[in-house]
Amino acid sequence: VNLPVNHPYMDLTFPSSPGDRPYVAVNMVMSLDGKITVGKKLEAGSLGSGFDRDTMTVLRHHFDAVICGGETVRQHPFYLGVTPEFSDLRKAQGMTLQPRTIIVTNSGLLPRDSALFSKPEFPPIILTSKQSYSQIVSKLGSLAEVYAVGEDQVEVGEALKLLRQVYAVDRLLLEGGPRLNFQFMQEQAVDEVFLTLAPRLVGSKDELSMVMGDSVLESLPRLKLISHFQHADELFLRYRVPIMD
Ligand SMILES: NC(=O)c1ccc[n+]([C@@H]2O[C@H](COP(=O)([O-])OP(=O)(O)OC[C@H]3O[C@@H](n4cnc5c(N)ncnc54)[C@H](OP(=O)(O)O)[C@@H]3O)[C@@H](O)[C@H]2O)c1
Repeated sequence: VNLPVNHPYMDLTFPSSPGDRPYVAVNMVMSLDGKITVGKKLEAGSLGSGFDRDTMTVLRHHFDAVICGGETVRQHPFYLGVTPEFSDLRKAQGMTLQPRTIIVTNSGLLPRDSALFSKPEFPPIILTSKQSYSQIVSKLGSLAEVYAVGEDQVEVGEALKLLRQVYAVDRLLLEGGPRLNFQFMQEQAVDEVFLTLAPRLVGSKDELSMVMGDSVLESLPRLKLISHFQHADELFLRYRVPIMD
């Protein structure tokens, strides 16, 4: 398999990390009517194309780590890494062969027999709260490196500091879901959004959207479009979240 050298996201550059936390980008696929699930889940091909899936890998190869919420991982117990040809490229660039897998959970109900745990070069990092820590360590401590960051919920700010200080994560890719995205947004800890606009209409009012929490985002961020390209009927948008004064 050859590298998709002509993919517009092969040669992205990113600003350096903002000091005490990694530089954070979100990547999501969304229907034209703003839904990111179909029937409360997402299956291969139900929103994005094969090219969109390839794009996920192209994006991942730029990052030191990929982070997901527990529900996303339960619904998609797939490896959050890149294909071997990207590992060679990462190695040539002085990076680890694979981005590190990071999972946020309190329940610890994670697919322990999946590739998510068996495949990585280094064990996944599980971020949990102090309240859940001992339960998670007894369940998953042999398969992952577990940290408590926050009392009864993972605190995004604290989690990001840990990833920067302990794991030297400079660039972090957030792959959802919407509840985790909301907490990152509320913390103003998202620097970029990569969005695939899929030419689908889903309809149901019960579907999820890209960022979901209990309130309007305090900063009501206004994003800046920094690039866009079309592939077949899909649009690939890259936005920067400007720092608010
Ligand atoms: N279209 C797309 O691009 C895209 C991308 C990603 C996901 N999705 C879809 O999004 C849906 C899942 O989204 P979601 O919002 O329900 O779930 P999510 O954000 O993936 O996960 C929520 C779960 O993450 C853990 N979590 C989140 N914040 C936490 C905190 N502060 N402290 C401790 N644990 C925390 C908890 O896990 P525990 O329950 O384990 O405690 C919580 O139940 C799925 O249907 C998936 O298909 C779509």
